[in-house]
Amino acid sequence: MKSAVCPGSFDPITYGHLDIIERASARFDQVIVAVLENRTKSSLFTVEERIAMIQETTKGFGNVVVDSWYGLLVDYCTANNIGTIVKGLRAVTDFDYELQMAQINYQASKVETMFMATSPTHSFLSSSIVKELADFGGDVSTMVPPIVNESLRIRLAGE
Ligand code: PNS
Repeated sequence: MKSAVCPGSFDPITYGHLDIIERASARFDQVIVAVLENRTKSSLFTVEERIAMIQETTKGFGNVVVDSWYGLLVDYCTANNIGTIVKGLRAVTDFDYELQMAQINYQASKVETMFMATSPTHSFLSSSIVKELADFGGDVSTMVPPIVNESLRIRLAGE
């Protein structure tokens, strides 16, 4: 079975992430969306909340499972017999860092990284931009699924 991992912080998941996950799910037998447990970076949503939102928004794809990990991505891949990392490239500004990561990861473990060109509709999109916009009352309904939009509203209102 050919498995791929779509890794990230997903704080929160956006339509940009979902575009990449859906396209990966059409090309691999199984896609694991892996949420990094980042113990140094503060996040708006807990790992459990992020997992729940990803599960809800990817359930229609059929072959997507959601997990979390702490540590090196290649260690997670090796432990779970995953041979491919799939990432979206939004613009050339993503490239330098992503190339470096892909090279380090391949050298360390022979896990391949495959890049997908993000749909132009989502090329400006990031979780940070969504959070900032939502925090100042901007409309993010075209950027995130309704369940995420509602979670942002509740969290940012401090309810
Ligand atoms: O959504 P993000 O925050 O841009 O995702 C980045 C992520 C989590 C994919 C990346 O930071 C990562 O893989 N971190 C795990 C640690 C690791 O394996 N680093 C690469 C070698 S130094």
